[in-house]
Amino acid sequence: MTIVKVDIQGNPYDIHVEEGILGHAGEYLHPVANNGRLLVITDSNVEQHVWPKFQDALSKAGVSPALFTLPAGEQAKSWQHLEALTDWLLGKHVERSDHIVALGGGVVGDIAGFAAHIVKRGCRFIQIPTTLLAQVDSSVGGKTAINTSAGKNLVGAFHQPSMVLIDPAALETLPARELSAGFAEVVKYGLIDDPDFFLWCEENIQRFFGGDMDAREEAIVRSVTAKARIVAADEKELTGKRALLNLGHTFGHALEAETGFSNKLLHGEAVACGMVLAFRYSARMGLCDEGDAERVASLLGGAGLPVTLSDAGCSVDGKRLTEHMKHDKKRSGGQLPFLLARGIGKTFLSNDVELADVAAFLDEEGTR
Ligand SMILES: NC(=O)c1ccc[n+]([C@@H]2O[C@H](COP(=O)([O-])OP(=O)(O)OC[C@H]3O[C@@H](n4cnc5c(N)ncnc54)[C@H](O)[C@@H]3O)[C@@H](O)[C@H]2O)c1
Repeated sequence: MTIVKVDIQGNPYDIHVEEGILGHAGEYLHPVANNGRLLVITDSNVEQHVWPKFQDALSKAGVSPALFTLPAGEQAKSWQHLEALTDWLLGKHVERSDHIVALGGGVVGDIAGFAAHIVKRGCRFIQIPTTLLAQVDSSVGGKTAINTSAGKNLVGAFHQPSMVLIDPAALETLPARELSAGFAEVVKYGLIDDPDFFLWCEENIQRFFGGDMDAREEAIVRSVTAKARIVAADEKELTGKRALLNLGHTFGHALEAETGFSNKLLHGEAVACGMVLAFRYSARMGLCDEGDAERVASLLGGAGLPVTLSDAGCSVDGKRLTEHMKHDKKRSGGQLPFLLARGIGKTFLSNDVELADVAAFLDEEGTR
């Protein structure tokens, strides 16, 4: 078992990573249950695959959980489901001292965390992530949100969990495509500022996808350690440090918008292709070697992720894709910051990128 500390001022918490931790989660949750009661939010797939074991572990520890199940999928992050969820919590007479537990992927974590933030002006909140993306990224750092008709994650809040429990064994029932999508976020940490970790990913990709639990645990621990360090340095994305976590997201956002934020292209798949594009664009600008960009494409492609516009189902002209970028929520004062790279592990924020130049680059990329 590894404990990673998230040292956020005024709100520090621990991330516990251990194969099988869900089977004895009662040890951690019994002490925080309110008179033996715990309010758990999940989705329909996680209820089927993970909940029985978790419920059993809680019962053994004398905790009686009440369960609210959302439909699986991104559409659950809506006003309608938020209303149903907050009504349920209030119907259960939730108290500010209650710990609301999010058991699921990033969708469950985002909406449950937002509900915890607004109900009774803020309840405690615990993340138990069950997708790779949630285990290495969304469960740490306190970003919570729902989607609206204007776009994704546009209504939300920072609300830090008080504990994160990560069981790599929970990934055994995760569909292969979701596992690959989460791997893009693992690789991202190497690309941002840790070339040794990128090399580790290259050397251990077979073990990771072959189901080797030690490799999975190491990937998760190294990823959350990186995320914890970055969010502790810039909790609310004010100094530019946390913005590095958006590597690949500006290109990725355009690809997701082009595919209608649908299952045609998962978020992690869009980020994978977006990171390759960020490196290829950096190479085109003479900032990094062409060879670095091809290493990134080779690793992500080897994980079954899209690495060209055509793989991502976005063989359209560059101008159309840059139009989507104009609606990116990171745009400020008409300027869209881009994350570029001087090499693997050398990502930086640039405010000097011209969208017309990006459109020309994407036109060239469309011919790959
Ligand atoms: N808050 C943040 O910092 C942050 C960061 C990145 C992404 N996000 C958000 O996260 C969401 C995406 O998260 P996600 O990729 O985890 O998607 P998700 O929550 O939709 O989960 C993906 C699918 O896997 C299923 N699933 C989950 N765990 C399972 C398991 N153990 N076994 C079998 N099936 C399982 C789910 O039911 C769902 O169908 C997006 O809404 C995105 O905006 C948030």
